[in-house]
Amino acid sequence: MTTPRTGAEELGDPELSAASLAEPGAVTVIIPTFNESGNVRELLHRLTESVPSRLPCEVVFVDDSTDDTPEVIRSAAQDCPFPVTVLHRETPTGGLGGAVVEGIKSAGSDWIVVMDADLQHPPALVPELVASGERSGADLVVASRYVRGGSREGLAGGYRIAVSRGATWLTKALFPRRLRGISDPMSGFFAIRRSVVTADVLKPLGYKILLELAVRCRPERVAEVPFVFQERFAGESKSTAKEGMRFLGHLVALRTASPAARMLAFGLIGLTGFVPNLIGLHLLTAGGMHYLPAEIVANQFGVVWNFLLIEVLLFRDRRGHRHWADRVGRFALLANADLLLRIPLIALFVGWLEMAVLPATTLALLMTFVLRFAATEALVYLPRQRSRSERTA
Ligand code: GDD
Ligand code: MN
Repeated sequence: MTTPRTGAEELGDPELSAASLAEPGAVTVIIPTFNESGNVRELLHRLTESVPSRLPCEVVFVDDSTDDTPEVIRSAAQDCPFPVTVLHRETPTGGLGGAVVEGIKSAGSDWIVVMDADLQHPPALVPELVASGERSGADLVVASRYVRGGSREGLAGGYRIAVSRGATWLTKALFPRRLRGISDPMSGFFAIRRSVVTADVLKPLGYKILLELAVRCRPERVAEVPFVFQERFAGESKSTAKEGMRFLGHLVALRTASPAARMLAFGLIGLTGFVPNLIGLHLLTAGGMHYLPAEIVANQFGVVWNFLLIEVLLFRDRRGHRHWADRVGRFALLANADLLLRIPLIALFVGWLEMAVLPATTLALLMTFVLRFAATEALVYLPRQRSRSERTA
């Protein structure tokens, strides 16, 4: 049991606040906030009404606000029978998801519940999420809008409903195994056992923190509890079109997390690069150029095409440590070094095996592909060496 303690911790120094989180309850409720001053008082009030009598708890706000949300929390926390902490971040790294991971790192309880601050997630459901996990032995309990008894009443407008539905479908299609048993992977309301969260593997990117946890931490057993997504209590949604793009980037990052998946994606992109390459080759040879110089020129079409796709889709999160001109240079160098290797191969196929130019080129492209993937990953998109020390600093 926790000794009831009131008042928010020191603001602005996450480490200090996290360290002084004494005697956590059975559940740590993590609430990301970005300018939610109109909601936090009511939220704490409703949490007080429904949680501590059924379940010892502590509440951690991870705040990126530019308004007075931290002060409002601190003042409202005085009436709370459970510990309330505010971790205010000066730099909102990773957005909503980054905030939640920050909170998870500071949490000491067996259970973690993540919920929004705007009362779209009913606080009364917090004990039920944990109880359901305890009853069923699940590691993750998702509050779902899409099981019987749940609904998305508060999701404003047909446009948002359509986007939400499309996103859910796409996500489930991309991760059929990891998301088995989760009907609402877009939900921002869930309970997870602290023991299954390996915070250091998480690389959250924006809103979809449940998806991040489900895919990277692979909780074995999942359960769902229906809930009615309410109207926002006060203020406005912080979700924007930019957040939508971030979500797509997040999906690609998750889908290409393993080296094997990355190589497959690299290969698929490379395959699409055959199109500009072969079209160029066809046009140039049809125009009377000898096939060997034509190979060199046509290769550049493929290089540009591949570079653009790889930059945007595959190594989006690993671009930062090198200037783009540096990356273009290295990429083009590698792709053409690859050509250097390929030209004698093609000449061999054409000259000795009497293959036609196009199939010979295709075969040689395939053969040099694996080599090029390994070299590109290592030499162009090498993970930043600095980032770890930066993080601990
Ligand atoms: N710390 C922090 N940093 N908090 C943030 C940030 C940020 O950059 N952006 C948003 N938040 C907080 C908000 O203050 C709020 O408490 C919560 O995250 C959700 O933000 P909303 O802006 O209310 O999101 P929404 O209602 O559009 O989306 C919610 O519902 C979706 C399902 O339709 C979220 O729960 C989504 O995760 C969920 O997919
Ligand atoms: Mn909301």
